[in-house]
Amino acid sequence: MQARVRCDEAPAWQALHQRRSSSGTQLDLAGAFASDPIRFETFSQQAPQVFADMSKNRIDRTVQSLLLQLARECGVEAHRDAMFAGEPINSTENRAVKHWLLRSPRGASADPDARLVHETLDAMLAYAERIRADAAITDVVNIGIGGSDLGPQMAVTALQDFVSPGKRFHFVSNVDGHELAAVLAKLRPESTLFLVASKTFTTLETMTNARSARQWFEANGGQDVARHFAGLTTNVAEAGKFGIETSFGFWDWVGGRYSMWSAIGLPIAIAIGAGGFRQLLAGAHAMDRHFADAPLEQNLPVRLGLLDVWNRNFLGFGSRSIAPYHSALRRLPAYLQQLEMESNGKRVDMRGKPLSAASSPVLWGEPGTNGQHAYFQMLHQGTDVVPVEFIAVKRASHKLDGHHALLLANALAQAQALMQGRPDPGGHRDFPGNRPSTFLLLDELTPASLGALVALHEHRVFVSGSVWGVNSFDQWGVELGKVLATDIAARLASGDGGGLDGSTAGLLRRLRASA
Ligand code: F6P
Repeated sequence: MQARVRCDEAPAWQALHQRRSSSGTQLDLAGAFASDPIRFETFSQQAPQVFADMSKNRIDRTVQSLLLQLARECGVEAHRDAMFAGEPINSTENRAVKHWLLRSPRGASADPDARLVHETLDAMLAYAERIRADAAITDVVNIGIGGSDLGPQMAVTALQDFVSPGKRFHFVSNVDGHELAAVLAKLRPESTLFLVASKTFTTLETMTNARSARQWFEANGGQDVARHFAGLTTNVAEAGKFGIETSFGFWDWVGGRYSMWSAIGLPIAIAIGAGGFRQLLAGAHAMDRHFADAPLEQNLPVRLGLLDVWNRNFLGFGSRSIAPYHSALRRLPAYLQQLEMESNGKRVDMRGKPLSAASSPVLWGEPGTNGQHAYFQMLHQGTDVVPVEFIAVKRASHKLDGHHALLLANALAQAQALMQGRPDPGGHRDFPGNRPSTFLLLDELTPASLGALVALHEHRVFVSGSVWGVNSFDQWGVELGKVLATDIAARLASGDGGGLDGSTAGLLRRLRASA
């Protein structure tokens, strides 16, 4: 594997700094459009299933070519090729990164794991079809957290129009028993299928919920745990110890937040069927090919990832707001939060050396138009500039008159208002404008377009992480809290506050006080 060059060691980094003011902080978007009749064409890109308009960002042609030069100098292409070659680019865990293989069509990849991938996929889809045909199962409960929850939940929600009637889907993630109790209250053991989804099969929340679900099942007359529980995991042996006989496996080269294409996608397959799931994979695969093959200048994940670097490191924007203008995409912001922030929320490079440049922004958001009536005030007139990412779908799947045109008009109007502004010098009605946004557009929300949209984001995060020089595929930052929670759980039971800081000890006392 070729050694990676960190962005701040690349010549283009200094050149970009020199352009920061003239091509960025001082760039007037309205003026840039007025003086360049093809700005929209220059800064937009069609990729499989997804069109992106990046022209309302503070970027010009010089910056665009310097960013592409930066990607070349940082070895993004070699790094990408190493991922697609199955090299162990997750260096801190010595693992390959091959979620792309999960969506590679049969016979298309020479990777040694390809055969196993398709055998498992066939078995999982056959099982999904059996469950779909089983009218006795009315409720499917996915018990999992993080990547074992957010992907399937986001996709089942997004593809609601493709979900065959007759089954309800529930997602239980939190160790907070209120969540599981509320779901169980609606269920009967004989008509429920529990999917215990956990890459490791050791995660506290998931194991606690799975045990409670099984206790509830048995206490309420449930028969045949083997029929009513299935495991989705890389740790099939541990699932067996739990008493689960039906398990679908996957492999350590699938990161949790990249796992909705694996057995973790079983709830999606039950919801939309084997054919629908294969279309989801096909949409993602088309984006994989685009990322692998398109020249950098026309490569959408590359262009978006580089724009993210420009916004973060040169314009100083610390967050990005995700605004899906489609209510079925309401879980997308949460999904993207994990994808980007768990991947690139790192402060050291591949060698463990502190970064000198900022890495992952904060991602947050809500569907439009709801956000407009909540926090868009701040986006238009607040002291911080937050790039907004609009995600719209050209054709609606409902037949209600007028709604969709109004929805799309609002998305366009918000992007326009952020950029145009409206002067009211010294007044409260002053909109400064010149605020950046990106507009992603799908023709329709289908399994294939959703697959492409998600894969686009995976690769975009790869590109920015690659430029920053971080390992986007580990997540050591979640460990400490897990260790301390085990210690504190014991202290909550015993009352032992010895050696604790004053605040934690004080809160422990209050939580244990009887009155
Ligand atoms: O704690 C973070 C994390 O490891 C995520 O990366 C992962 O998606 C989630 O927990 C769930 O892990 P598992 O699938 O092993 O239960």
